[in-house]
Amino acid sequence: MASDAPLPPGSVIGILGGGQLGRMLAMAAAEMGLAVHIYAPPGDNPATDVARSATIAAWDDPAALEAFAAAVDVITYEFENIPVTTAEFLAARKRLRPGVRALAVAQDRLNEKELARRLDIAVPEFAAVASRTELDAALARMGVPSILKTRRLGYDGKGQAVIRSFADADAAWVTVGGVPAILEAMVPFTREVSVLLARGADGATAAFDVPENRHRSGILDTSTVPAAIPPALAARAVAIGERIAAELDHIGLLAVELFVVGDGNGAALLFNEIAPRVHNSGHWTTDACLVAQFEQHIRAVAGWRLGDPRRHSDVVMTNLIGADADAWATLAAEPDARLHLYGKAESRPGRKMGHVNRIRPRRA
Ligand SMILES: Nc1ncnc2c1ncn2[C@@H]1O[C@H](COP(=O)(O)OP(=O)(O)O)[C@@H](O)[C@H]1O
Ligand SMILES: [Mg+2]
Repeated sequence: MASDAPLPPGSVIGILGGGQLGRMLAMAAAEMGLAVHIYAPPGDNPATDVARSATIAAWDDPAALEAFAAAVDVITYEFENIPVTTAEFLAARKRLRPGVRALAVAQDRLNEKELARRLDIAVPEFAAVASRTELDAALARMGVPSILKTRRLGYDGKGQAVIRSFADADAAWVTVGGVPAILEAMVPFTREVSVLLARGADGATAAFDVPENRHRSGILDTSTVPAAIPPALAARAVAIGERIAAELDHIGLLAVELFVVGDGNGAALLFNEIAPRVHNSGHWTTDACLVAQFEQHIRAVAGWRLGDPRRHSDVVMTNLIGADADAWATLAAEPDARLHLYGKAESRPGRKMGHVNRIRPRRA
């Protein structure tokens, strides 16, 4: 493998995945004088609008993967449901950051929770459920309300069913499609927060301020910074993220979603899930921080020193889902707001079309 020297401007970052996260990573890379080559299967790939080059091919196309690996200087991903075999194939040819392990862990809710538990991080009560009979056994043990989730491929609340009474079990099993799943106790959280931290190739870490996240129909609606939590609780949250990043030998941005139970300094933090990539709850960093999550991720992947994640503004990020983005002209005219649109060809209900960051001078 190549040396650990930082990749100079002019180098090419390969990005697996062509969605809005890849698009915003590509724009950050461009500002650093780096070029981007997107690899994504056919479909709506808005990242390709802003990248130097793109390979549109299946995840299991060895010739296309081979050529892609040869054309780039380092590879990263904006999407965690890339087959592990694809990641391994590429990692054998070019440096892949974050690595295969972070990807493999984040793809499977059971792996994530077991990793957290091994690191002594509190998690909601959970059980692996591989069949309808195992669901009954897990429900008998854990009770209701609980929530059944597919182990793999779930996002934006998809592949999940809330179980409020034992009579809901059949419907829940159908909703998740009868695939390997995990049953979790329903957490009576007071709020949800996330940790957004970057870890560099030298092991240094830099965390953004902790946002407070509200969801609507399982999809992130708003991220508000600062979160209404004491600094000591935010520091405990960041420490959880640092433990996970160190354990995974993670290089790049890592997001950790957490439930806050209770209030004030005595509140408990429960692990929900990780994303080994830039994260929707970090989209406010573009307009409220000196260096945003996208640049921070590219810096880590390219072996640069991490940037200054300091926040200069208070901010509320609001996702524009489906028809929300039809109000683009009004949103674009709002003072103290910055509109981001993803350039997706087709709007559908539940689809992330853009976001808006509403900024105020920082109060504390
Ligand atoms: N165990 C739980 N208790 C309470 N709420 C939950 C639980 N699991 C998920 N949720 C709610 O559903 C949202 C989406 O679930 P999550 O596990 O994060 O899946 P996704 O991959 O779709 O983001 C969470 O942000 C939270 O609001
Ligand atoms: Mg989530």
